[in-house]
Amino acid sequence: MTVTVPDLIGRSIDALPTPSVLIDLATLRRTIAQMADAARGFGVALRPHWKTSKCAEVGRLQLGAGAVGLTAATAAEVEALVEAGFEDVFWAYPPVGAHRIGTALRAARRARVIIGLDSLASAEPLSAAAAADGIDLEVRLEVDSGLGRTGVRAEDALAVARRLARMPGLVLEGVFTHEGHVQGLGADPERRTEVGTAAGQLLVEVAEALRADGLEVPSVSVGSTAGARSAPRVPGVTEARPGTYVYGDENQVAIGTVDPADTAMSVLSRVISTQRGEPMLVDAGIKAMSSDGSMHGDGRIGTVVSDSGGVLATGHEEHGFLRGSSPLQVGDMIRIRPNHACGLTNMHSQVFAVEDGVVVDIWPILGRH
Ligand SMILES: Cc1ncc(COP(=O)(O)O)c(C=O)c1O
Repeated sequence: MTVTVPDLIGRSIDALPTPSVLIDLATLRRTIAQMADAARGFGVALRPHWKTSKCAEVGRLQLGAGAVGLTAATAAEVEALVEAGFEDVFWAYPPVGAHRIGTALRAARRARVIIGLDSLASAEPLSAAAAADGIDLEVRLEVDSGLGRTGVRAEDALAVARRLARMPGLVLEGVFTHEGHVQGLGADPERRTEVGTAAGQLLVEVAEALRADGLEVPSVSVGSTAGARSAPRVPGVTEARPGTYVYGDENQVAIGTVDPADTAMSVLSRVISTQRGEPMLVDAGIKAMSSDGSMHGDGRIGTVVSDSGGVLATGHEEHGFLRGSSPLQVGDMIRIRPNHACGLTNMHSQVFAVEDGVVVDIWPILGRH
């Protein structure tokens, strides 16, 4: 539900419709400052992934704390960022399809937009379109450091980079990786450090091989929340792109990469039925929580963070099944931490920024589609 009524600002969260997404401002400011400090400490630039918030206000706070720019995944995010006046965007997604090429060229006329790609097949149409438009587009070559998703194999990077660097309309600006496999290791801090460090090292080795061949490689960019304390520490890495850290979520809490006190995002929900006793029913189901899986491995869709405790053990579209909570009455409110902040953001049209239980602002979620 989109609420545009400005008179909710200044009211207690008790006045809000449910389900609604709350962002605790004090926590948000702290997570932004902590990651900015960490990046400064490692001597790398910070370019947070914006898909976690999709809020211009959050992006501005991140830039205000020293981020050099933002990262985006979708065409809608790139368009929204440029429209909102952001001037330095890394689009970390292969520019495949005419719609993405169109967005890249439009955005590049208004802002600095670097395009991430992993093949000559995706680079060639982009190159042709940029050259025809008389634009020089900066591109970064993605290297797979172990996630097994997009990205060239390290041993193939030089051959692809050489051809990329000669394509009209494109300027090779760097290499990047998303070390998302670090999160998949679960609650094992030593192993996370090892694997995050290895991802950073692999990327630096690739950058050095390209430079030894005469190519210029200004940026060596890693990015994830689970690897944010290891991959960017590697000498030679120049940039970090964590996203989830800004709100935190239950999956990061489950593996120990985010402190529960550093989770800014929750879903406010009301108990709607106690007919079953256990479970009680609340108005946050899958359409409010997303169906992102739980790293607790128990299938829950959310974790209650208000005093009653409990978990949303499962959900239907508009119904959440609350188990393990102390007794509640119909109409009582609970707050629930989502499994995955980025997935949750994309389910909603706005978030309520709150301070001490009072709504201080309403932020639209941009670029959802
Ligand atoms: C390319 C890329 N970079 C950075 C990130 C940020 O990672 P995280 O959400 O773990 O902070 C993601 C997240 O999926 C990503 O896909």
